[in-house]
Amino acid sequence: MVRQTENDARIVPPGGTIGVLGGGQLGRMLALASARLGLRTHIFAPEDHNPAYDVAAARTIAPYTDEDALASFAAAVDVVTYEFENVPAETVDILTARGARVAPGAKALAAAQDRLVEKEFVRAVGAQTAPFHAVDDLASLEEGLEAVGRPAILKTRRLGYDGKGQTTIGAGARDLGRTWQEANHKAWEEIGARPAILEGFIDFACEISVIGARAAGGEIALYDPPENRHRGGILRTSIVPADIRLESAEAARTITAKLMRALDYVGVIGVEFFVLKDGAVMVNEFAPRVHNSGHWTLDACACSQFEQHIRAVAGWPLGDPARHSDAVMENLIGQEADDWLACAGTSGLSLHLYGKHEARPGRKMGHVTRLKRP
Ligand SMILES: Nc1ncnc2c1ncn2[C@@H]1O[C@H](COP(=O)(O)OP(=O)(O)O)[C@@H](O)[C@H]1O
Ligand SMILES: [Mg+2]
Repeated sequence: MVRQTENDARIVPPGGTIGVLGGGQLGRMLALASARLGLRTHIFAPEDHNPAYDVAAARTIAPYTDEDALASFAAAVDVVTYEFENVPAETVDILTARGARVAPGAKALAAAQDRLVEKEFVRAVGAQTAPFHAVDDLASLEEGLEAVGRPAILKTRRLGYDGKGQTTIGAGARDLGRTWQEANHKAWEEIGARPAILEGFIDFACEISVIGARAAGGEIALYDPPENRHRGGILRTSIVPADIRLESAEAARTITAKLMRALDYVGVIGVEFFVLKDGAVMVNEFAPRVHNSGHWTLDACACSQFEQHIRAVAGWPLGDPARHSDAVMENLIGQEADDWLACAGTSGLSLHLYGKHEARPGRKMGHVTRLKRP
């Protein structure tokens, strides 16, 4: 291909290859979206089997820190992206040293990997978060409880997901026949006595998220925020539009755009918010990747979050994030996916299955989306 300008050099044309670190359902849906645009996908992951291999043009099975495998991967792809936020910093360093372009960049990854750094980053762009306190031992946990009050949530700084790595410290520990010290000790042990963050418990009206995208040139696209309902720390349902005030939705979209600019972001981001009873919004966390609460965009938008992400990292113009329908997305978790035949036979229901062989409890096996004309 003849490359004329600096900007053109960043464009991955049809026939080019998108490298994806990680091979779960998000990698699978990214690969499907890139195939639709005439691009190939090369998955890099350590597992022998995963949902993304089935639909990708190429795969490398190796640990994320295997230098030789990463060097060959860097040489085989036009750009590298990822489908999970716990990509080791070392992996990105190795790839970058081999000349690979990684998007979103190291700054976004570093901020999203550590809940403390993440909250400080969010505050620095002028957005609200729950009150928080860094916890490294029982003494700082006690200090934190003084500062943020009870009830509170203790979360590991790193590697938590789907409600894992967190525990609630209730207002009524004494009612359970424990002293405060015993209750604190138990919570600290429960999260594995690791560097943590203590957050004040927010009595929110509802939770929403904004799926945003930013192109290398700074262009931004924002989807309508869905309301997200969780059970046991796992997302169950996303409903769009959310039943919130216009000002709350606008505030969340504005914060998402600010975060993307501050992170010099390229790709799709998922920002989770608490909406308070007075309509104010607080950032809970953000994921530097496509997000479960954006799966409805596959069926309700001309350009899904997956296509949007591929467009952004491939240097293409962003697509239109407008929604042509209202939508309700339900995750199929564990055994719920056994009902696939009934779902497939239900008129108006779009079924997405991730090709996972074993339906373990809490495992996301697929999702269904029901559209309604707005
Ligand atoms: N400070 C908080 N106050 C009230 N609820 C919270 C708070 N933090 C988390 N939660 C609840 O727990 C869920 C999971 O927590 P989150 O921090 O998003 O971790 P994960 O990485 O597991 O998604 C949230 O979606 C919300 O429902
Ligand atoms: Mg979350």
